[in-house]
Order: sequence, then C-alpha cells, then structure tokens
Amino acid sequence: MSVSPVKALRGTLSLPGDKSISHRSAIIAALAYKGTSRITNFSTSEDCESTLRCLEQLGVKVMREAAATVCIEGAGAKGFRAPSEPLNCGNSGSTMRMLAGALAGHDVVATLTGDESLLTRPMKRIIQPLNQTGAHIQGTMDRAPLTVLGRQPLSAIRYELPVASAQVKTAILLAGLNARGRTEIIEPNATRDHTERLLSWFSIKVDSKTIDDDGTSKTRTALEASQPFAARDVAVPGDMSSAAFLIAAAAAFPESELLITDVGLNPTRTGFLSILQLLGGDIELRNVRNEFNEPIGDVYFRGRYKFEPQAPRANLIRGSLVAQVIDELPILAVLGTRLLGGIEIRDARELRVKESDRLAATVTNLRVMGAEVEEFEDGLKVRGPCQLQGAVLDSYGDHRIAMAFSVAALIATGTSEIKGADCVRVSFPEFFRSLESVSER
Ligand code: S3P
Repeated sequence: MSVSPVKALRGTLSLPGDKSISHRSAIIAALAYKGTSRITNFSTSEDCESTLRCLEQLGVKVMREAAATVCIEGAGAKGFRAPSEPLNCGNSGSTMRMLAGALAGHDVVATLTGDESLLTRPMKRIIQPLNQTGAHIQGTMDRAPLTVLGRQPLSAIRYELPVASAQVKTAILLAGLNARGRTEIIEPNATRDHTERLLSWFSIKVDSKTIDDDGTSKTRTALEASQPFAARDVAVPGDMSSAAFLIAAAAAFPESELLITDVGLNPTRTGFLSILQLLGGDIELRNVRNEFNEPIGDVYFRGRYKFEPQAPRANLIRGSLVAQVIDELPILAVLGTRLLGGIEIRDARELRVKESDRLAATVTNLRVMGAEVEEFEDGLKVRGPCQLQGAVLDSYGDHRIAMAFSVAALIATGTSEIKGADCVRVSFPEFFRSLESVSER
C-alpha cells in the first residue's frame, strides 16, 4: 500500500462496531439458555468473523441478516456440540482465549488453533486458571493449539491475575457461568469491562468494586453461581480503538476537523482521548448517552498548530494507564514525533506478545522514518518534535502496526510504502477507505 501525505482530515464518519464488544456479545448470546439475540453494528473485522465461524462449528445457529447484523440463537440446555474439526481462531487472541473459557464448562472436547502469529502467543495465562476450575486445557509448551476437555459443572475459583488482561478475565468469567459457587477475579490494574457490562445486560449478577489490598488499590469482580439467562438484543457502539487512528491522523494538522459519531466511550477505553487532551488536543464529546449498558457518543476533534503537554509528565505513559491504552500505544508512539518533549512509554512489556512484538515493530519503523527512538525491555522513548520521512515500512502482519504507520506516512514528507497493509482487515477492513474519505491533499 502506497500512502502519501495529506494536508488535513475533515469530515464526519461513523465506524464499524467495537471488536471487543462484538466478540463478547456473540459468545454470550450463544451461551443463552433460550431465545435469539439480534446484534446490530456487529464488527466487520476478520477477528469477529473467526468467532462467529467457531460458534457455528460448535453447533450454534448464526444468522447473518444485513451487513453488520447478526442473529445468534442461544445453545440452550444442550450446550455446545463437539466440533468435528479444530476451531480456527485465525489471528484472534480474543477468540481463542474467550472461547476456551466458554468451552471449559461444557461437556465437549475441542481443539482451538490459529494462524502463525496466534500459535506463538502465550496461553499459560488461561490454561492455569481454567485448569483450576476442573476443566482440562492442554497446549504445547503453553502455546496453541489448545485442546479443551470441558467439564460440567466446574468449580468456581478465586483468581488474582498476574498480568492485566481483559481476555483472561473474560475467559474466567465465561467459565464461571457454568461453575458451582462464586467466581472472583482480582485485577491489579483495571482492564476493559465490556464482559461485566454485557453479562449485566443479559441479567446475570456480576459485580465489580475497587478494593484495598494492603494499601494497593485493586479491582474485584465477582460472578454468582450458574445463572441460566435468556437472549437479548445488543447494538454495538463504534470502535474507539479504530477511531484512535483517525483522530491521531487529524491531530497532526491544524486545519483538521473531524466528527466521529456513535463511538464507544467506555471509560476503560477512552484513555487515548484523555492522554491526547493532556497533550493539548482539542476534543469535545457530544451527545453522550448510555445504550445497552455502554456509554456512547460523538467525538469532535480539531487539529492544533502546536502540541504541548498541559500537565507535568503528561508525555510519560506508564503504570495502570498502560492497560487503558494497550491497543493505542503504537499510534501514541507515532504521535510522539509531533509532541514537544516527545513521548515515553514504560510498563508495556505486554506489547511484545501481541499480534507482533509491537515495541520492536514500532521502534524499527519509526527509526526507518528518521525518528530518534530508544527501546527498553518494557517500552520506548521517542524524541519530539521531529519531522518523519516517507519510507518503506513493514506491518509485520499486525493490523495495528499497519494502521499506526499509515498514519505516520500521512504526516511524513514524501510517499511511504506499507508492506502487508491488507492485514488491517483483522480489525478495521474499511480503514483505508475511511481515511481517504476525510483526507484533504
Ligand atoms: C482485548 C484485550 C486486550 C487487547 C485486545 C482486545 C479484549 O488484550 O489488546 O486487542 O477484547 O479483551 P489482553 O487481554 O491480552 O490485554
């Protein structure tokens, strides 16, 4: 993909449904005891299609109505059917980890596999807690393919997450739906809470609170013992993590003016907006309301001549903030090249085990574009402001790297080439079209 610089981004856009909420709503709808859930603005991502295909292999009736509308019939008391072939999760860590949790409490044997990238990603983080529930999850050296030997019912567990991961929390909560007793999860750093919100929407009793553990504040989520629940409709808000790329692109040009309508504003996902605001970004939230138990609204954004931190250390991202912007860190690093004082990201070791090693990929691409970047084991530091130069860049087969560096190419001098840019289909197939529709050259 060849990307040339633009002068500004101007216009109004609405985005496809949030990927995290789409995965979860499909899986929870499939676990319903009775009825059919109609999910609108379902994510158009390849990742969420992987989830739907796996559910079909498990005997779940999935009806694709119009574009982005999916109806899912609850598997009922029968539960899932053992699949005849391995379940292919493609590139999707969410599909693999969440489905492993959902399958744990069913009387089936199923193998979960995926693409080359997914087969290298750490799975011990779900194997360990799920095995404690009485299910048996087997991998090879803690990697996929994973074979899940489900058990009915499971024993509820109390589990403290060693790494902040909403996927792991979700796997344990979904297993907890078929467990005897109360499931409890303690998180050192709060992660996205879509599962909790959706479970409540489906009338399941789940409760999260902040607790004090020896002077450290943690989040405790508790799910009561197995509760059969019925289908419910869901409308998925636009994906904030996709919006972040467009907002970042707009941020670089003083003439930009962008309105993104109906985007998810869940506070566990808006860290990117808060950081941008602290760095001098001009952001206005409009029409904010609550729908289907999730905050949603319009984001109005205007470009600035100069980005300057509005608070001391605003350009240092570390600690609990990292989990709130985990998918936005590569694009924040790119934005760092526009900022007075640059940007520093620490405590982000997790980026090394995403769809690619996102720290290495970001550092390498930024350096190829002429930026001065330091790499740490747990982060990076970008010198700013600096003018990026067009270059040949590698997506490393990772959708968020492809999008982050397409934005870098827009703000660079000269044309850039992004290798393997078609991987954007994994989360945001319309990315290049959406970008083009608001680009002014
Ligand atoms: C996700 C959680 C995050 C995130 C991923 C989606 C989710 O992963 O990076 O894109 O939907 O729960 P981890 O749970 O591995 O941090």
